[in-house]
Amino acid sequence: MNKTLNTASVEALLNWYDRSRRDLPWRKTRDPYCIWISEIMLQQTRVEAVKPYYARFLQACPDVASLASISEDELLKLWEGLGYYSRARNLQRAARSVMEQHGGVLPRNYEALRGLSGIGEYTAGAIASIAYDERVPAVDGNVLRVLTRLIGSYEDITLPQTKKGLRDALSSIIPDRAGDFNQALIELGATVCVPNGAPKCEECPLRNVCVASREGLCAQIPVKAPKKPRRIEERTVFLIRDGSRTALCKRAGKGLLAGLFELPNTEGHLDRDVATEYLRALGVEPLRIERIEDAKHIFTHIEWHMIAYSVRISAEFDGWHGEGGMMLVPNAELFSKFAIPSAFSAYTKYLLGKDARAR
Ligand code: ADE
Repeated sequence: MNKTLNTASVEALLNWYDRSRRDLPWRKTRDPYCIWISEIMLQQTRVEAVKPYYARFLQACPDVASLASISEDELLKLWEGLGYYSRARNLQRAARSVMEQHGGVLPRNYEALRGLSGIGEYTAGAIASIAYDERVPAVDGNVLRVLTRLIGSYEDITLPQTKKGLRDALSSIIPDRAGDFNQALIELGATVCVPNGAPKCEECPLRNVCVASREGLCAQIPVKAPKKPRRIEERTVFLIRDGSRTALCKRAGKGLLAGLFELPNTEGHLDRDVATEYLRALGVEPLRIERIEDAKHIFTHIEWHMIAYSVRISAEFDGWHGEGGMMLVPNAELFSKFAIPSAFSAYTKYLLGKDARAR
């Protein structure tokens, strides 16, 4: 690798970054807290989608102490729509341990950052290099693609040993401007050496040294073993309303969508009669039950295939003996107070605006 990324090409990469980098909010700061928040948000979410969340999050939690002290429900509300909620929970766990064990100050080097919840090799490398210019690599999916193309490697980028080999090779090359160097590789992967479609090699500062570009191998590299297929789960969702309130349940503290609020739902595709029986067994007496649209939601390892019923109940109803416990929430509070995961967005749209009162 150091034949390809020699002093001249590292210089060319940094010059390109200085000229071409996108003007992103987290690039205006060296505050490790802000960089940490941005890197966690960026892990599974696109840059454009992260921008408004980043601003709102920092307004609500401007420092480690405020993140450590907000309630879990407030935190999940701030994260609502970003998905992968374990990222938010780990952020708070780490913030609490920074308060208790590091005097409220984020650790100043890679090794110590690695000890915090949710901070793996990539994130520790990104924070330490961007905030402190520590010369450590930050190898994410973008960087894996750039580096394997650069050196013409057919190694499978889903294998840990591939990443380790590239990290080790990169470690001896990182210049003093470590943060800019790592971000330049990320930027190149996001804007030039792109994941979908043909890379824009004519714009690349490394085109003269890139093996894949020279030999026409960009369609073959990177090599990526196919993922195992997602498990399909059939579910029946209930939109239970009494005219002014809607039923929500809180999910268990562990597992998929842990601790979030959801529309009541159960395993399987229940036909109308079975659905009615199911609700009655839980003490809910439908005045009217009507099938509404089907929906699909894709998680990392699972796909939910949902059918749903809109269920009208009496305004008298105030109890529930089912799994997790159900509460009837005034429609006006549904979106302001509760974080309802986007898995239910096909159905929560029925609760917005005038539709909330119809049916
Ligand atoms: N993706 C991950 N880290 C990033 C960063 N610092 N800037 C832009 N995209 C990123």
